Amino acid sequence: MKVVRSVAKMQELSRQTRSAGLTVGFVPTMGYLHDGHVSLVHLARESANVVVVSIFVNPTQFNAAEDFSNYPRDEKTDEALLEEEGVDILFMPDAADVYPPGAATRVAVSGLTDALCGAFRPGHFEGVTTVVAALLNMVQPDVAVFGRKDFQQIQVVRRMVRDLHFPVTIVEGTTSRERDGLARSSRNARLSPAQRAVAGAIYAALSAAAAAYGRGERTASALKEAARRRLEQTADFRIEYLEVVDPDAIAAVDAADERAVMAVAAWLGPVRLIDNVTLAEQALALSEGTSTAASGAATSESIHPGV
Ligand code: PAJ
Repeated sequence: MKVVRSVAKMQELSRQTRSAGLTVGFVPTMGYLHDGHVSLVHLARESANVVVVSIFVNPTQFNAAEDFSNYPRDEKTDEALLEEEGVDILFMPDAADVYPPGAATRVAVSGLTDALCGAFRPGHFEGVTTVVAALLNMVQPDVAVFGRKDFQQIQVVRRMVRDLHFPVTIVEGTTSRERDGLARSSRNARLSPAQRAVAGAIYAALSAAAAAYGRGERTASALKEAARRRLEQTADFRIEYLEVVDPDAIAAVDAADERAVMAVAAWLGPVRLIDNVTLAEQALALSEGTSTAASGAATSESIHPGV
């Protein structure tokens, strides 16, 4: 695995790969990698010849300086993991190269960023789209892989790529979950053992709403109530948003159709957790018994030591 920090070198490697008739698959990350990231690496491997993973904790997408400085980092373990996964290039640019002095350009997607995380994290998606646009220009991939866990993010990135004609195909990876259903996230490392033990309730709440959908409930307020009731069984959560949205507009709907997505953000102590499901899909998975068990035990398995 080549470890590349220089932007010019990354562009050169990508150009060489493509002129040799090979394709480049790209997984952008902020590091502190977990099995969710690894599943995206596998998808990139299936979709392209040469796999590039970037690790860059992007300062412009954090709302609070404190969240940025507390974001977990472990370059050594990440590097060893990616090497083991057969990644070809690990790209770790310096902030001063990603944002050259005097950088004055921002990429913003309107509309899709009004609701959900966009409503509560001002400037967050502008930071995401700006850095993803820059990373796409630095890596020049044929395929870029994003996770469904960050549902609004992948929709916003898709729209940016379409609107600005980036020559890249966006591939979506399903949400990787712990045994109790908690969506894997680098931020989970900051949960205390007691918080971790109850964190699976977020997925259980989404599943409760999906079960109601499966019984024929379509009214958004009733579906949200089903989820809220399940979440409120665990007193520690502070719900930031809980919405049923149209997946293309990312706007709240009054009635769920077969494409409707329920999305939630909830605080558990100092940690903000997000998750989402397509209600109809999750209802089907529940009825077929193919969904992640919502009641299983929390797991403590982790790629990173001391977590
Ligand atoms: P990060 O949170 O590191 O996530 C990198 C990628 O992994 C994103 O596409 C995210 O959706 C995906 N991912 C995270 N948890 C996942 C899970 N449990 N299952 C499947 N995929 C998961 O998202 C970012 O970084 C940044 O915003 C970034 C796109 C890199 C721009 O800075």
